[in-house]
Amino acid sequence: MLTGWVGSRRDLGGLIFLGLRDRFGITQVVVNPQGAAKEVCEAASGLRFEYVVAVGGVVSKRPEGQINKSMKTGEIEVNVDKLEILNTAKTPPFLIEDDVDASEDVRLKYRYLDLRRPKLQKSLWIRHHAAQVVRRHLSDEGFLEVETPVLTKSTPEGARDYLVPSRVSPGKFFALPQSPQLFKQLLMVSGCDRYFQIAKCYRDEDLRADRQPEFTQIDIEASFIDREFIYKLIEGMLQKIFKEVVGKDIKVPFERITYAESKEHYGTDRPDRRIPFKLVTVTDIFKNSAFKIFTDCVARGDRIKGFAVSGKEISRKVIDELSEFVKGYGAEGLAWIKVQKDKWQSPIAKFLTEDEKQNLTRAMNLKEGDTVFIVADKPKIVDDALGNLRVHLGERLGLVDNEHFDFIWVTDFPMLEWSPEEKRYVACHHPFTSPNPDDADALESHPEKVRALAYDIVLNGSEIGGGSIRIHRRDLQSRVFKVLGIGEEEAVAKFGFLLEALEFGAPPHGGIALGFDRLVMMLCGSESIRDVIAFPKTTSASDLMSGAPSDVSENQLAELKLKVIK
Ligand code: AMO
Repeated sequence: MLTGWVGSRRDLGGLIFLGLRDRFGITQVVVNPQGAAKEVCEAASGLRFEYVVAVGGVVSKRPEGQINKSMKTGEIEVNVDKLEILNTAKTPPFLIEDDVDASEDVRLKYRYLDLRRPKLQKSLWIRHHAAQVVRRHLSDEGFLEVETPVLTKSTPEGARDYLVPSRVSPGKFFALPQSPQLFKQLLMVSGCDRYFQIAKCYRDEDLRADRQPEFTQIDIEASFIDREFIYKLIEGMLQKIFKEVVGKDIKVPFERITYAESKEHYGTDRPDRRIPFKLVTVTDIFKNSAFKIFTDCVARGDRIKGFAVSGKEISRKVIDELSEFVKGYGAEGLAWIKVQKDKWQSPIAKFLTEDEKQNLTRAMNLKEGDTVFIVADKPKIVDDALGNLRVHLGERLGLVDNEHFDFIWVTDFPMLEWSPEEKRYVACHHPFTSPNPDDADALESHPEKVRALAYDIVLNGSEIGGGSIRIHRRDLQSRVFKVLGIGEEEAVAKFGFLLEALEFGAPPHGGIALGFDRLVMMLCGSESIRDVIAFPKTTSASDLMSGAPSDVSENQLAELKLKVIK
């Protein structure tokens, strides 16, 4: 018997065709009054969308002309002689098919129906296969899977914590882990040597297309290793995942780029190298420019950068839209030049000397037909504006090859960055990241110059993982806390258990965590992280199906000694 849901139904005057959907896809089922018993025909005529049925019959080749090459089972059909209705169904709020046009809110409210769609079924399978490959690979490499607590201590690591009140200790709270970071380091002190976990992490942060408040990491830590060990381990794992799950060959080793180079050429630490143009610094060329915006910018010690797009006609209307686009990143404006046969068409052309033109041509390797975009502003604004404009234009002009998987390691992140809001240095990765030993002497004198032993793995412009070699000595950890403005007392209150553990023979160690959901998004070719999570939250961090978060009873609040202030 074949079991499944009625996905489609056509009644051609008694001859009934059903599309029967199960976890493997859709099969055509035919109820022919010429062959089938009367009860079977009657039952078939009463079928509606999403009824659950079991059918039995003869599998035969479809007649020529009815073959559907786009379906896995498109060459066969089942001629039914038995039909049992296992359950009826209310009319679903939307048609369950891949080109569904219902709003995402409705689909999230009825997520269990949305998950019946073949596309989402497929992404659950891809996710499952990827997890299997990860477990096998890491197990074969001698890694031990260990679960770490979900009710833990609030130790802020960047995002806001999700808190859980304790009934037994009124007024005290657990935090849900933003990652198993501290526990995996403690496992190294325990002598576990090689740990991994496919771990749920919780972060109360602003959500985007590739962020969820609860998400999954492939979390890894190992002792007595260096960065090269991690690079090789992850390259081997990703190569296997892509080959075994989606049949793609990935070339290893992946190329590497330093953080500084990545910022210089792509304006971001998440370079998407599939887009064929890069940023070029041209500050010096315009030191003495007649164009005041440029000269003022150079005089202030700010920066001028740009890029050139070849082989694409970009209209004035589009350029106006792009000028608005960069304003979204804080840039005052966007200068542009169209390089034509005998002249440069540009609002700034009249200010440019022959020398400046020649220098710009050389720096950007300009050719006839190119369009140049330039931003002059504070370094961070220039990089943000042009880095995002580069990606936007690459996509808009159809220059991105979606079949290509471009992996790259970004290395040598700065250890600390100055936070103008908090008026102190904050850790770029997290406070347990080791400084590069070559720079450690400058920790107190020039904190911003110290590079960390930290690395990210980037795929097609998306950060799919990050990690570092950790600090394993108490004295160095204390120095880093001090530079971060965390006093000894505060450090002990927040991370005392880790600091103490470092004093009991902590081995040198390091690790990485890959964003599993993001990785599965890439494997599925999905634009939204919600497509690869069975029961995701909305961008306002709520679950439309269950209605969470929700009110709780007065009794529950009283037990927890909590009062809600409206
Ligand atoms: P990090 O914070 O860089 O590192 O996280 C690792 C990876 O997790 C993914 N990620 C997310 N995915 C979906 N939704 C989110 N809200 C979200 N936040 C992060 C990203 C990211 O690269 N403990 C360290 C790792 C380590 O040092 O070993 C950590 O959590 O793909």
